[in-house]
Amino acid sequence: MKKLFTYTLAALLCSVGGVVSAQRVKKLSVLTDSLGPAIPAAMWGIFFEDINFAADGGLYAELVKNRSFEFAKPMMAWKEITKDGGAGSTLIINRGETNANNPRFARVSVKKDKGSYGLANEGFRGMGLFKDKQYNFSILARQLSGNVKIHIEAVGANNEKLGETDLQGFKSDWGKYTASFTCKATDAKAHLNVYFENPGTVDIDMVSLFPQDTYKGRANGLRADLAEKLAALKPGFIRFPGGCIVEGRDLANRYQWKKTVGDIADRELIINRWNTEFANRSAPDYFQSYGLGFFEYFQLADDIGAEPLPILNCGMACQYNTAEVAPVDQTDTYIQDALDLVEFANGDVNTKWGGLRAAMGHPKPFNLKMMGVGNEQWDAQYVERYKLFAKALKAKYPNIKLVTSSGPSPDGDKFDYLHAELTKEKADFLDEHYYQAPEWFLKNAQRYDNYDRSGPKIFAGEYAAHIKDTKNNDAEYKNTWISALAEAAFMTGLERNADVVQMASYAPLLAHVDAWQWRPDLIWFDNLRSVGTPNYYVQQIFSANKGTNVVPVKMDGAVVAGKDSIYSSASMDAATHQLIIKVVNTSSVAQSVQIDLQGKGKPQKVYSQVTLSSTDKFAYNTLSEPQKIAPQQGGGGIQAGKINTSLLPMSVNVYKVNY
Ligand code: AHR
Repeated sequence: MKKLFTYTLAALLCSVGGVVSAQRVKKLSVLTDSLGPAIPAAMWGIFFEDINFAADGGLYAELVKNRSFEFAKPMMAWKEITKDGGAGSTLIINRGETNANNPRFARVSVKKDKGSYGLANEGFRGMGLFKDKQYNFSILARQLSGNVKIHIEAVGANNEKLGETDLQGFKSDWGKYTASFTCKATDAKAHLNVYFENPGTVDIDMVSLFPQDTYKGRANGLRADLAEKLAALKPGFIRFPGGCIVEGRDLANRYQWKKTVGDIADRELIINRWNTEFANRSAPDYFQSYGLGFFEYFQLADDIGAEPLPILNCGMACQYNTAEVAPVDQTDTYIQDALDLVEFANGDVNTKWGGLRAAMGHPKPFNLKMMGVGNEQWDAQYVERYKLFAKALKAKYPNIKLVTSSGPSPDGDKFDYLHAELTKEKADFLDEHYYQAPEWFLKNAQRYDNYDRSGPKIFAGEYAAHIKDTKNNDAEYKNTWISALAEAAFMTGLERNADVVQMASYAPLLAHVDAWQWRPDLIWFDNLRSVGTPNYYVQQIFSANKGTNVVPVKMDGAVVAGKDSIYSSASMDAATHQLIIKVVNTSSVAQSVQIDLQGKGKPQKVYSQVTLSSTDKFAYNTLSEPQKIAPQQGGGGIQAGKINTSLLPMSVNVYKVNY
């Protein structure tokens, strides 16, 4: 969970815009022949959690909210409507005895010959529809009496009809019916009217509207612009489904992957823990439909070329909430879930869970290599449960690497205890989280330089620089340049220590501008648009310019980690013979730098450059101004093995030299 920081604005400004000598040319030496530790292919990844409407109302492209009437208030997001003197009624029926996963449906009775009676759905803070795009409506229905016909209309914010279609001929048994329309205009705040005509009664469930153009055209798919933004990060891994959402406020509301696979109509909806987590940001309409479930996460990982990293509940609910634990002698279900997940991801199609994967459309294995045991757990109760997981998983799947918790903070008693205990246990990865002020990131650029090389590897699983709140109405303003710059400086330290820190991910990933609970976040969106924050571009710059091996870069004989407000790391790509040098200037003045490429190899005569900069510490990108801070391309000549360059004030620079 988030720690709140109260750094003063003055402290923040001092920390980032440090004092430097503008005149002196800073000399960086890159030892191009000293190929150091390998940088894992999965080094820079993404952290996905269903927070801020990231899944339902976000990445999951479903436009109808509460499509199966399972929210705590079954008619939430729905409203009764009539047209031309029509009349009718809706009764919510609970068939929990025979269908525990999807107990409720709506019984709609049309009472008059004339006009129509209907239900309108508001969408997720409206529905985003695009001109000339196709939308696919579907519904589960059965006819009880009469000959009811359904008329579907998409309606814009100004009541303009944007598209319509009809359905009829419902049978007396449940069946799925589909119809499509093409939208006449773009609207961010449209809604859906589902009208029923002709006297009679129908039962309905799973009322759905999807864009035809989902990411890679998949049915039950993902919102294309958001998935494309994820793909453009070239992530090495994707961690899912969280975060605290894994733990649940209590064990009953923990994330259970088995309830998120198979037919979407059989996935049991639960409340989203972020519905109630923050009183000042409550979201009564936030639930987990699990339309985006574990199959879809694995599919996404596959589609964007990222290693899947699922995190599973370890028999512990969130320790900030109920802190419930399952008795140690009753953790079998939890451990079995973990074992079965490996079978679901990797198992032969003739196994139970591998067969389900195949039936869902992916007979090929998903090639799962790692898994997290719990999220931000702490104390002895965690270690005790982790040991049980490790014993069972390592016995059956010795090649699966396990990610373990180091608690919610980057230091302190909980952290020290877990580091010591899990090192004794020879844990594969420790998951460290830091939501801290920009100043902390600068001070910690050398955090890993002296970490134990023989201990567990580190997964910097959740981090973001948090600035102190100021009065600003834009949702996106917490993603100011000052935070991204500090993260970039810190990330040079992660890269330099890639032998210890083998994976890292910013958190959280996605946030709806009208429905967020937590910020900053990497990508903001509304119902039509999305924007990469400056922090997004920092992540992208590091991920797209990774290299395969660390090479040393020195200033005055020492690692470059803050002296004169300069931070640097370098890598060589052994496959492409490209040298990549990252230099971050956190000061508010330009700095002359000479980069000396020392080594036997012959660099080509020119270098290319990517720069991210702003002279305004508090600049940020918004949906309407998405490119205020965005990468700029450049380059120059190399003379006698040296790059002479001027670092822009407050800039992140990547120099690429081919050998
Ligand atoms: O990223 C938001 C939350 O921060 C995560 O759910 C949790 O793991 C951390 O406290």
